[in-house]
Amino acid sequence: MPVQDLRDWIALMESAGELRKVLGADSDVELGVIVDQYQRRMELPALLFDEIKGYPKGFRVLANTLTSTRRIALTLRLPAESSKMELVQAWRQYAKQYPKIPPRWVSDGPVNENIRKGDDVDLTMFPAPKWHEDDGNRYIGTGCLVIQKDLDTDWVNVGVYRVAVHDQKTAGLYISPGKHGRLIMEKYWARGLDCPIVVSVGQDPTLFFVAGLEIPYGVSELEVAGGLRGEAVQVIESEWNGLPVPATAEIVIEGRIPRDETREEGPFGEWLGYYASGRRPAPVIKIDAIRYRNDPIILGNLPAIPPNDDTYYRGILRSAAVWEQLEQSGIPGIKAVWAHESGARS
Ligand SMILES: Cc1cc2nc3c(=O)[nH]c(=O)nc-3n(C[C@H](O)[C@H](O)[C@H](O)COP(=O)(O)O)c2cc1C
Repeated sequence: MPVQDLRDWIALMESAGELRKVLGADSDVELGVIVDQYQRRMELPALLFDEIKGYPKGFRVLANTLTSTRRIALTLRLPAESSKMELVQAWRQYAKQYPKIPPRWVSDGPVNENIRKGDDVDLTMFPAPKWHEDDGNRYIGTGCLVIQKDLDTDWVNVGVYRVAVHDQKTAGLYISPGKHGRLIMEKYWARGLDCPIVVSVGQDPTLFFVAGLEIPYGVSELEVAGGLRGEAVQVIESEWNGLPVPATAEIVIEGRIPRDETREEGPFGEWLGYYASGRRPAPVIKIDAIRYRNDPIILGNLPAIPPNDDTYYRGILRSAAVWEQLEQSGIPGIKAVWAHESGARS
């Protein structure tokens, strides 16, 4: 079954016995605690939360996605029974070239089922979890795509950067120094401009997979994701800022990052298992519009004490990179390489 969006992925995992539904959880910490317990052991099912306390039935959160070898294999369009080493080898071959397919512009898509603009914008209508008890915010963006365009070229960058809910029309954004999204944002600011931004919340996990990788400066993750899928990512042009909006995304936030405004954001429990920073001023997103599918699904990625959702799949990528380096340095007869899950993020 070809996976085009998050719903296809969920259907695929359900048929493979890789998904469990959880009803009635509270998005204020309880949901995060459940995911935390699940992801400490690999091979447990992905979790789809519905009937979340205080939100309409059908407004869902998916988490614990890439914590089984089988789910990672299926997400990468590889045979379901691939072993960890086969995944490492497959990624090693793939990453030598990063084949690319440019996105395809389309005029419409399921993300347009609901469009709220101006006074109707309400970011608080979605069950964005407060994942850990000492988090300073609810976070709608953890398994999200942050999409921006370079001011001087056609390069569209996509990164995974956390997105907090501040109020109905304002989100918070944390991008650490040196990340491409931050360089792009600062370029706009240096010229006295607000930075246009699109945030996609809930999409084919292959896009999330690629967006979290350190793809070289100037190369678009949308093209790399197309290459990985063997099929172009379909995008709609945002009528607010011209950026590409993934046509089958679950929820999309369109807006701008003003250069002269910050708001207190964090702390946030991080992937090494502690709160990496305190509460401090961070950029905001002024939201012009929100689109969402009927019964939208937030794709969550919970950073927590390792191993966690992030470190499992990154372990495979890291192992592939180390294997490649070892072979290139002339070491013969390598049988296997494994980067431990607790330190797998670069
Ligand atoms: C689940 C997940 C969450 C992440 N959260 C953040 C974040 O909040 N801020 C950040 O700067 N980088 C974060 N990263 C790391 C970046 O996504 C990663 O370094 C990526 O390569 C950045 O894209 P860029 O190379 O285009 O800047 C996260 C990565 C993952 C996989």
